[in-house]
Amino acid sequence: TDKNLTNLIKKYEPDPKWEFPRNQLEIEQTLGEGEFGRVLRAEATNINGNNGVTTVAVKTLKDDARETELNDLLSEYHLLKEVSHPNVIKLLGVCTTPGGPIYLIIEYAEHGALRNYLRKSRNIRISHIAQTPEDQEGKTSHYDEPKTCQITPKEILAFAWQISNGMAYLSSVKLVHRDLAARNILLAKDKICKISDFGLTRDIYEDNAYFKRSKGRVPVKWMAPESLQDHIYTTKSDAWSFGILLWELVTLGASPYPGIAVQNLFHLLKQGYRMERPNNCSPKLYQMMRNCWEVLPENRPSFQVLSSRLEKMLGDGV
Ligand code: ADE
Repeated sequence: TDKNLTNLIKKYEPDPKWEFPRNQLEIEQTLGEGEFGRVLRAEATNINGNNGVTTVAVKTLKDDARETELNDLLSEYHLLKEVSHPNVIKLLGVCTTPGGPIYLIIEYAEHGALRNYLRKSRNIRISHIAQTPEDQEGKTSHYDEPKTCQITPKEILAFAWQISNGMAYLSSVKLVHRDLAARNILLAKDKICKISDFGLTRDIYEDNAYFKRSKGRVPVKWMAPESLQDHIYTTKSDAWSFGILLWELVTLGASPYPGIAVQNLFHLLKQGYRMERPNNCSPKLYQMMRNCWEVLPENRPSFQVLSSRLEKMLGDGV
């Protein structure tokens, strides 16, 4: 259609408002790599109204990336241009001009991916259990340094609340994330959660569902039954994924449905199987997960409701 064609042309057209000069970007190191994409750390000079040097993250494609990945990266760019919320990763600029790779310049999150952060925090807990006598007397020791990484139940709730707030915002602007998982949440300064990885995110207009066009890698264990069966993605399928993300939070980054093969999962879910309550998970929080895993999408809570429940739980100290 004409509208699609106009959008496609727009997608490849440089936007002077966001273009950043390549020579003001100094790539430092690789932060992460996917199959076709790469995230780099860089220093940007005078970006986004910040005078001087700012540490940034740069998303780019590998040489062997295909057109689909280019498309996903450009989709992410155009979506990020339109969003603004403290719990959603911020776009700072872009390099799309010829003479170099496409770079999406995004805010740098100093603690990296939430899943890794949660997993790292496990070892620290253990090192505290195995305290030395000096620790108990309150003297300083080499165990003191990583204390900043220790996670309390209240912090888990605060993470969940922040992510829900970001998702409530995204759903209010009619965006469906489609890949909500702890690996796609970044942890920035002051332990602020930032929803990221919008490569699969889609605009929903007219009817409220998005039908996935191509195959590609699918996050089966985070997906709602209707997404697995009919490729239907809505804010309510994001709510299902949020339930899995809650489970990841309380298990400090465990992999969901341990021991269950992805091929068997859909059948099990259809029969009503759900993950059991993890250790250290309050009944209230488990109830929230189960609400997110209601088989009928309309029975799952909205992110607005999830946010207010989490806020209340934070206040109650539960
Ligand atoms: N890894 C992927 N994206 C990142 C970002 N924006 N900041 C820090 N680490 C990252």
